[in-house]
Amino acid sequence: MQIKQTEFVKSVAHASQIPTQAFPQIAFSGRSNVGKSSLINRLMNRRNLAQTSNTPGKTRLLNFYLINQNLHFVDLPGYGFAKRSKAEKKAWAELIDAYLRTSERLRGIVQLIDARHDPSPEDLEVIAWLGEANIPFLVVATKVDKLSKNRARKQLDISLSTIADVAEVDFLPFSSTTGTGRSDLINWIDHVIKH
Ligand code: GTP
Ligand code: MG
Repeated sequence: MQIKQTEFVKSVAHASQIPTQAFPQIAFSGRSNVGKSSLINRLMNRRNLAQTSNTPGKTRLLNFYLINQNLHFVDLPGYGFAKRSKAEKKAWAELIDAYLRTSERLRGIVQLIDARHDPSPEDLEVIAWLGEANIPFLVVATKVDKLSKNRARKQLDISLSTIADVAEVDFLPFSSTTGTGRSDLINWIDHVIKH
């Protein structure tokens, strides 16, 4: 698959607003500020179609992007952002839950972790959940450009062995800055939407 055409479709605050077109969907999940929107931009080769920010918690809604007129990318709002009110956290959980329960067209989930750090307890919780759910998912360790090759390999080994305790996963190092992992990720997406 080549990503030739991309457009922003809509931001969704309630499950009732999710686009109804019969396109397969790939969702991108991970803690706030991990780099979901940057990764989506890199996949689309668009500089800032998905809004990115140094301020965690930028993406609060489900953002839908249309790829090649036949595929939706879904930028999920990040978790693990401390400066959220209880009401906001509840709204987040309800929105994600409603999406996951009703998303008949969800074909795969790309779960991001930060290549520099051990997975957080929340990361592990989500990964364990994905391991039980009946949906293909891939763990992507992003921001690898921030580490030397040697450090990256060591940290990724540690993260992988922690993750292996909670689920069996496929794993891909990635960088939105350099494009490392982009073609492998596109191949994975292509594979899961065809199966
Ligand atoms: P929320 O919308 O808050 O959930 O965050 P997000 O996961 O969408 O993160 P976002 O893409 O906005 O990136 C957060 C910060 O990390 C930004 O300052 C990005 O420029 C930076 N960043 C993201 N990916 C990379 C990467 O691969 N390498 C480097 N060096 N910086 C990155
Ligand atoms: Mg974002």
